[in-house]
Amino acid sequence: MSSQPGSKKVFFHTFGCQMNEYDTGKMRARLRAEGYTDASSPDDADLILLNTCSIREKAVQKMDSALGEYRRAKRDGQKVIIGVAGCVAQQEGNALLKRYPDLDMVFGPDGVPHIGSLVRKASEGQRVLDTDFLDLETYPFVQEIDPTTHGVGAFVTIQKGCDNKCTFCIVPTTRGAEASRPSEQIIQEVRDLVATGVQEITLIGQNVNSYGLKNTGEITFAQLLYKVAEVPGVERIRYTTSHPRDMGPDVVQAYRDLPQLTSHLHLPVQSGSSRVLRRMKRFYTRERFLSLVDDLRSARDDLTLTTDIIVGFPGETDEDFEQTMTLLDEAGFVGSFSFKYSPRPGTPALRLKDHLDDKVSGARLTRYQTRQRELSLAWTRGHEGKVVDVLVEGPSRHDEGVVAGRTGTNLMVNFPGSLELVGQTVPVRVTRGFTHTARGERV
Ligand code: 5AD
Ligand code: SF4
Repeated sequence: MSSQPGSKKVFFHTFGCQMNEYDTGKMRARLRAEGYTDASSPDDADLILLNTCSIREKAVQKMDSALGEYRRAKRDGQKVIIGVAGCVAQQEGNALLKRYPDLDMVFGPDGVPHIGSLVRKASEGQRVLDTDFLDLETYPFVQEIDPTTHGVGAFVTIQKGCDNKCTFCIVPTTRGAEASRPSEQIIQEVRDLVATGVQEITLIGQNVNSYGLKNTGEITFAQLLYKVAEVPGVERIRYTTSHPRDMGPDVVQAYRDLPQLTSHLHLPVQSGSSRVLRRMKRFYTRERFLSLVDDLRSARDDLTLTTDIIVGFPGETDEDFEQTMTLLDEAGFVGSFSFKYSPRPGTPALRLKDHLDDKVSGARLTRYQTRQRELSLAWTRGHEGKVVDVLVEGPSRHDEGVVAGRTGTNLMVNFPGSLELVGQTVPVRVTRGFTHTARGERV
């Protein structure tokens, strides 16, 4: 049963990765059919949904404190349904409901497609717990899009879950096994998005390179890239996350053939030491990674690379860490998401010996990040005086009369201009490079 549109209000608080952001958009789209519109703030909401992340301990702490605030408002008299969705919900399940007697809903990532019925149950006063994984063969990927979730760029999911077993990672537990979304559905979603003005498509999945490999009759990831590039109006294609082990020559070739494929690739390496990579069960060596980087660079000479790094993995020696430091320079990453290893419940790495002292990991992380900042700055400064093509995404976050957009190589450039430029690709001369962004002026 649907009610009057606008009669009820939902507030989303999203933590973690692009997949969570995408799932929130899908929940928003589905809840519209249930009569929900967006609340402007949590105190204005009839329903508050936290879409949570459990990748590191810190992410879980963030969600705990946010949940505390919302529950306090409820104790103070706000009439509101509170739900915890996403990876923490999947991981903790009933324990969350037990711990917080005023919590109404707990459901994992596979609850997203039937968010409507879950919310209806909660509205009737039932406490909702749903952490069952859905059937992979018939996985009901949500097809509706929510136009308010995206602007110039949009995410499109191409698979759910993950069949890898990296020993540090909790995702296979929280998001379950991998299933690829049928390619016709993906292309349809891309078309629908382009019709709303989207120009840049980012294909997302936990391990995009293994797309389609387990479904008979489905196309491969490389073939999918060519198909997306054929959709009229798609100016730029990005994708994340790649696993270096699964990145084949056909994807490398796509960098030669497809101008829509941007000259930026996020390629998480995790460590520069083959010994650590083995203990992480990543199934590639430092040498193999570097030779992949060479292949990619010969296919696309202006390709920029960013990566994910974990420092202080159990048993990581000084020597192992030095290998990560030299890899950073050799691969020439222009940016990294780098983290201290965080022990996660139920993961194989917990049982490894030699967990490191936090001080040691902290010092290593600082060294890594300092060097990364130098490299990032050298890269952005290298653009000074040059003209680059910027796809304008929106107003700058800080300055009025300034707009922001990115180059294909993922350099964020701010320059004076009006909002009419949003959605246009314009030539901009870079005047100054900073660590993560650059400033420029229109030419
Ligand atoms: N500790 C620290 N970082 C982690 N990541 C995944 N699991 C952990 C963990 N237990 C990092 C990896 C991954 C990114 C999304 O998060 O680098 O690529
Ligand atoms: Fe995303 Fe991973 Fe966090 Fe889950 S645990 S929300 S998949 S980053």
